[in-house]
Amino acid sequence: MRIVIGSDHGGLELKSAVNELLQQRGMTVSDLGTDNDDSVDYPDFAERVAIAVSRLEADLGILICGTGIGMSIVANKFPKVRAALVTDEFMAQMAKEHNDANILVLGGRVLTAERACRMVNIWLDAIYEGGRHQRRLDKIARIEDDVRNERI
Ligand code: RB5
Repeated sequence: MRIVIGSDHGGLELKSAVNELLQQRGMTVSDLGTDNDDSVDYPDFAERVAIAVSRLEADLGILICGTGIGMSIVANKFPKVRAALVTDEFMAQMAKEHNDANILVLGGRVLTAERACRMVNIWLDAIYEGGRHQRRLDKIARIEDDVRNERI
């Protein structure tokens, strides 16, 4: 399982805790930055992670900024990306079971490392339920296609 992670300065500290957890789980992790606490622009890092997931170069991604809001706005611009900003364990579980989210977005200034790691584990371990949820994901894909081809 290949996973890409990225953050801005607001998510840097939490990203290193999440990275450690992912390594412990035996995942192949690519950290696409940022790598120091200089102030940077979250779209630059959301773009790197979202491109990797959109092009299927990675199976999953995790993005972290201060609140998670900016990262989720950017990531969801990319085809095939379903980025979910989650703030608790229930949302982390639903993000996979119902939305099959391929990018998990967290807020470094919102969550403790302990809680965030618990949420990452829940998201990774949960299983997409398909069924009626697939119909909804198909509609998202249709909307994406219509926007790209300027039909709507
Ligand atoms: C950076 O100060 C902050 O705006 C960013 O980390 C994020 O919270 C944006 O949504």
